[in-house]
Amino acid sequence: MPPIVVLGASGKTGRRVVERLRALDVPVRLGSRSARPPFDWNAPHTWAPALEGASAAYVSYFPDLAAPGAPEAVGALAGVAIEAGVERLVLLSGRGEEEAQRSEDALMRSGAAWTVVRSSWFNQNFSEAHFREPLLAGELALPAGDVGEPFVDADDIADVAVAALTEEGHAGEVYEVTGPRLLTFADAVEEIGRAAGRALAYTRIGIDDFANGLARAGVPDDEAGLLRYLFTEVLDGRNARVTDGVQRALGRPPRDFSEFARAAAAGGAWPRPVQPPDAP
Ligand SMILES: NC(=O)c1ccc[n+]([C@@H]2O[C@H](COP(=O)([O-])OP(=O)(O)OC[C@H]3O[C@@H](n4cnc5c(N)ncnc54)[C@H](OP(=O)(O)O)[C@@H]3O)[C@@H](O)[C@H]2O)c1
Repeated sequence: MPPIVVLGASGKTGRRVVERLRALDVPVRLGSRSARPPFDWNAPHTWAPALEGASAAYVSYFPDLAAPGAPEAVGALAGVAIEAGVERLVLLSGRGEEEAQRSEDALMRSGAAWTVVRSSWFNQNFSEAHFREPLLAGELALPAGDVGEPFVDADDIADVAVAALTEEGHAGEVYEVTGPRLLTFADAVEEIGRAAGRALAYTRIGIDDFANGLARAGVPDDEAGLLRYLFTEVLDGRNARVTDGVQRALGRPPRDFSEFARAAAAGGAWPRPVQPPDAP
């Protein structure tokens, strides 16, 4: 049986796609800079060896589909995949991002059987990525106020991706996937604090203070520019509605944020700080 290639195999969604495919006894080839053969978005000569002879591929771009050059890279990768015999491509995309939609267009024009999983912000950004460290320290400060975001669970994204990779009936579908309810960042932090049994604060800051903080923390300019774009453009209210992509793809509702927060807290995502022993 030819393998399915999972790009971003060690990332938040890719790791979960790999676990699910293995549980189904589907052969998997990891798409990672440390895999053999390696896959590196910045080294196009690695693409064909990583894709050769696979039946399908999960395409998670890095760093972000809003980054300059992403549509060109996704389009070129789709061409290489078809040359390598890959028949089915499932792209992880971002909701409400004009740039991400240009990558989707490149995929759709490629001639492959495609499915797009167009996602809202992940729950796991709070437990496995950028927002975790500040939460561990007790306060998350971001340039986002009253706007609601329907955070979606990476487990749901992986379930949708695996359905599209392994079942018939998903080709040509754009699944816009969100969680079941809108939360502000303050709401999300409050729910995490309750689940973790900790006093956690959310503070809204200005975009310039945010940018200065990123610079002080040594975040590279291109990454800081992306974050600035995401907080100003993508969080301007355009995405403040839930959609039915998970239900449509899987026939079940998406996981609620409170269930995510409880499970991640129980798994040790936000442990209480260790109290220093009393001085003698
Ligand atoms: N986070 C969100 O809320 C969100 C929402 C919507 C859409 N998205 C989309 O999801 C995608 C993934 O974003 P993410 O932030 O969640 O990251 P992620 O899936 O957690 O990905 C991190 C992985 O990317 C891999 N990687 C890094 N540089 C690479 C390179 N040059 N070539 C190949 N692989 C590389 C690394 O794997 P190795 O070290 O193993 O190579 C790393 O494990 C982006 O395209 C983004 O637009 C994210």
